[in-house]
Amino acid sequence: MDMRKPVVVVGLLALTAVLAACDGGGDKGENGKAAQAALKQMRWYTPEQVAAGEKLYRENCASCHGADASGSANWREPDANGKFPPPPLNGSAHAWHHPKHMLRMTIKRGGIPIGGSMPPFGGKLDDDEIDAVIAWIQSHWNDEIYSAWARRNAQAALAGARK
Ligand code: HEC
Repeated sequence: MDMRKPVVVVGLLALTAVLAACDGGGDKGENGKAAQAALKQMRWYTPEQVAAGEKLYRENCASCHGADASGSANWREPDANGKFPPPPLNGSAHAWHHPKHMLRMTIKRGGIPIGGSMPPFGGKLDDDEIDAVIAWIQSHWNDEIYSAWARRNAQAALAGARK
């Protein structure tokens, strides 16, 4: 008896099912919405963290980075003292290039040790509060930016684990 045949048939059935699922036709909007909902669920933070972060951000960060995290329009140009204006944190600048541990470190230490002007928050916000602020900031990132960040973050975590 040819044992391979049932395997091929099952494989073909599975493939047909996958193709049928992809060929949503008029269903594309629904599939798109489901995909977006799935991506949202994959974010590391909870709505509670975002809400806590919003308050902390308003009190500690908004004066420089803007109430909506859009930063300064001229953030790429250093001023007369060679200091850079506060960049946007809403996903339009650099912040998404940094894995979570780097974002935490920037917020804790500020920018002064590396020649910048952002004050340190290590003595003012505890680790949970810093994570909540990061959650609020990331809630402004679209799915494309968030996934690009998540990839870098995972790579950094793997590299750290190998050390
Ligand atoms: C006094 C103004 C000021 C305040 C307040 C401030 N920042 Fe900043 N921030 C800056 C500046 C300026 C930079 C650019 C680096 C530098 O000069 O230190 C920066 C850089 C950053 C970066 C790095 C962005 C990137 O693209 O790499 C992050 C993240 C950040 N700030 C988050 C925060 C958070 C969160 C808070 C509140 C807890 C905060 N900042 C409060 C001025 C500020």
